[in-house]
Amino acid sequence: THVVVLMGGWSAEREVSLTSGKACVTALREAGYRVSELDMDRELPAKLAKLKPDVVFNALHGPIGEDGSVQGLLNIMGIPYTHSGVMASSIAMNKPAAKQLFSGVGLRCPEGKIVGKKEVVLEHPMQPPYVLKPIDEGSSIGVRIVPKGSNAPLLNGDWPFGDEVLVETYIPGRELTVGVMSGKAMAVTELVTDEGFYDYQNKYTADSRTRHIVPADLPKPVYEQAMRMAETAHAVLGCRGVTRSDFRYDDTENEIGALYLLEINTQPGMTPMSLVPEQAAHLGISFADLVARMVEEAQC
Ligand code: DAL
Ligand code: MG
Repeated sequence: THVVVLMGGWSAEREVSLTSGKACVTALREAGYRVSELDMDRELPAKLAKLKPDVVFNALHGPIGEDGSVQGLLNIMGIPYTHSGVMASSIAMNKPAAKQLFSGVGLRCPEGKIVGKKEVVLEHPMQPPYVLKPIDEGSSIGVRIVPKGSNAPLLNGDWPFGDEVLVETYIPGRELTVGVMSGKAMAVTELVTDEGFYDYQNKYTADSRTRHIVPADLPKPVYEQAMRMAETAHAVLGCRGVTRSDFRYDDTENEIGALYLLEINTQPGMTPMSLVPEQAAHLGISFADLVARMVEEAQC
């Protein structure tokens, strides 16, 4: 089987994708596949037509690679690919659209609304604390927490993420994530940061002292609920292969606390510091076995 690992591209998550892609190339070779690497550019269709892979392993993150565009191209070319198809990818990439579907099946999400970026410069769009997010970025790029007592919104016209901003109530408490593979939740990981939240810095930099606790130390019903919520989120969008759903767990709310689904990632990170490979390892599945399973499930 000839596998092309698609990586890089020109989204803000290019560097993360290159790191994911390289890790997947090594692992796929270890698993015995013939592997080619492809850094995505505008010549992608011609390059794929020439390489004629049996499967594309999609290691892209961010717009184009994660939003259904590349998936549509691969459908047209008839090349099976890993992860979700067009519709699931494009809905998941648009946080407000995904939240609508999640709410429709009773998955609790933080209250939120979409505002024009100019509105946020002039006044608070809601009572602080709240969170500002780009509609469709990943890796926490652009995410800003506006704390309680802050007297001005953070934006001073410096918002390079489009004309709209997603504003969400800030959920206090703990940060959790759940990978789903073939429809089944893998494990719950808690992210414990030294400072601030699990942002780009705390995700990828070498000096990040973020601790990943897997399995998360949670009351059993909460652990189970997070697992089921991640499976439901994956199913309601019609995702395939591997996804990862991110949560806040407000343990101050009542005796057992409340779980809030923040989003689902249809192209979760596959870097050596990433969470899905770590959950697989916790289940006794090596990185090589993980990527091999993903290739076996590739569809178009
Ligand atoms: N967007 C990054 C790659 C993640 O979800 O892990
Ligand atoms: Mg994301």
